[in-house]
Amino acid sequence: MAKRIFQKPRGTRDILPVEQKYFKYVQNIFETVAEDAGFRKITTPTFEDSKLFMRGVGKEAELTKEMYVFEDKSANSLALRPEGTAPIVRAYLEDGMQSLPQPVNLYYFSNFFRYERPQAGRYRELWQFGLEVIGDKSPLVDANIVATVWRMYKKLNLTDISIQINSIGCGICRPKYVKLLKKYYQGKLAKVCADCKKRYKVNPLRLLDCKNEKCLEIQKEAPQMINNLCSACHDHFKTVLEYVDELEIDYVLNPKIVRGLDYYTGTVFEVWNAKDGAQNSLGGGGRYDLLVELLGGNKTPAMGFGVGVDRTIEEMEKEAIVFEQDKNVNIFVAQLGSKARKKCFKLLNDLLDAGIGAEARFDKGGIGDQLKIASKLGVEYTLLIGQREAFDGTVIIKDMASGNQEVFPYEKIVKVMRKRLGR
Ligand code: HAM
Repeated sequence: MAKRIFQKPRGTRDILPVEQKYFKYVQNIFETVAEDAGFRKITTPTFEDSKLFMRGVGKEAELTKEMYVFEDKSANSLALRPEGTAPIVRAYLEDGMQSLPQPVNLYYFSNFFRYERPQAGRYRELWQFGLEVIGDKSPLVDANIVATVWRMYKKLNLTDISIQINSIGCGICRPKYVKLLKKYYQGKLAKVCADCKKRYKVNPLRLLDCKNEKCLEIQKEAPQMINNLCSACHDHFKTVLEYVDELEIDYVLNPKIVRGLDYYTGTVFEVWNAKDGAQNSLGGGGRYDLLVELLGGNKTPAMGFGVGVDRTIEEMEKEAIVFEQDKNVNIFVAQLGSKARKKCFKLLNDLLDAGIGAEARFDKGGIGDQLKIASKLGVEYTLLIGQREAFDGTVIIKDMASGNQEVFPYEKIVKVMRKRLGR
């Protein structure tokens, strides 16, 4: 019988060592930018009570329908987290963060799960870096999140991006606007796509971000939320834009940015790749002033943003962004003969104990084979112990670039290598 090789579940991927360097780099940049701006890291469980998302994100939201829901052995209905904002609000309430000085600024780097139709840049397990500010209603918070996200991309040298911003109003002005929008679409329902017919009933705002050609035509004349904001929402949004202008950050006012999750209110924005547009947004977020109350807390304003890490890395690869990598291994330890092998094993561990990265291949006997591996690894130095060195208690340092060789007593080698590698 042929041996079976298992395959990863559809829509997931293995992040191989060649891509890990991007993940490490991006995570480091994002976390440094966030920490510098006073955000602190939070990690929540990979799965939560499924009702948290039903209530927080909305029963009818596409995201809730894409959830991986399962029952555990105690018949609890759990969901693999499809997003990070509802769990963080849950933690804010459950872990007593309301009694900390407000606002509470949090960030996360986590994986999320969505049963979507897989395609380029769309996975069933995805990674996001998110920022959340809970407990501050000031429009400066919105502007500050835009600025922080912009800074994160600038630090990555990703320049071919655009910020698309809008306001979707509050509990007072949005229902009035939705009525207006439905009235506009009423006589045109025969002409819209099947999805929009559904959207008309369950989530009319999403009529505005349909990409179907027929629907795009109808959208052109549709009333816009931005012209129907109440005075509080209008003033808030105007201030956000004034502060973003102050930092000379480019943005596009886009009335079609409505976001897919029910919890958003007021300012919403997305980051797009300038070429692909909305097709695969690099990130999205906005205000969610009603979510804390909806999940059982006191009325508490909040604002946040989620960057899609997978798509950001794909964008870096596309733009051929070059970056300095930390090089951990600069030394290869090579041996000839069984006595030397034991000494090399000790040398390798002495180097590692001293915090100096080093590698060896003890299954290889020939010095030629070992030197070939050393040059493939791109190390700066190979340390050699043959039969004579094992007997003398010495080590040969071979500089791989020049080919020069020098002999040192074993006891001095860690100190010498530390100096040469500037550690
Ligand atoms: P979201 O727009 O659903 O927002 O996701 C944010 C980003 O995650 C997207 O812009 C995209 O880059 C990435 N993303 C989403 N789905 C996938 C997928 N299937 N494959 C690859 N990447 C994907 C949220 O999740 C909100 N919780 C963001 C937020 C934080 N709002 C306020 N605070």
